[in-house]
Amino acid sequence: MKTILGIITISFLITSCAYNKSELPEPLEEEVNVPKITYTNYVKTMIDNNHCLECHISGGIAAFRDYTTYNGIKTVAASGELKNRAIDNNGVSMPMGYPPLDQNVKDTLQMWINQGALE
Ligand code: HEC
Repeated sequence: MKTILGIITISFLITSCAYNKSELPEPLEEEVNVPKITYTNYVKTMIDNNHCLECHISGGIAAFRDYTTYNGIKTVAASGELKNRAIDNNGVSMPMGYPPLDQNVKDTLQMWINQGALE
């Protein structure tokens, strides 16, 4: 009798463990795998390396949109113009006078915007 009770207890414990486990929420893939893109760790270098500052700088032909600072580029990330011109290449495509950004650069830029254009 003791043995039977023992077996019942153990199998109850096993199934309740399994049950509890399946109740745990799966971590979202996003939270685990997606790196945080920031101005400091990505966007600043992207701007430096893709001709933007030939024009978007004090004294340049696009000085009214100075992208030498976080606030400068954040403004157009928030307005949607960065996506419009540099990712979707609508209107005058950016970088003006150069081929569009590489797809992986566009994807990372889009991720930065989606994550809130963090500094
Ligand atoms: C050869 C000069 C030049 C280069 C290089 C250039 N831009 Fe521009 N950009 C301009 C000019 C001029 C304007 C303003 C006229 C217009 O809106 O088309 C502009 C406008 C923009 C706008 C729209 C701003 C607004 O608020 O309307 C965005 C966003 C932009 N550029 C992003 C970029 C990014 C990002 C890069 C680099 C990847 C870049 N540009 C490279 C000249 C340039």
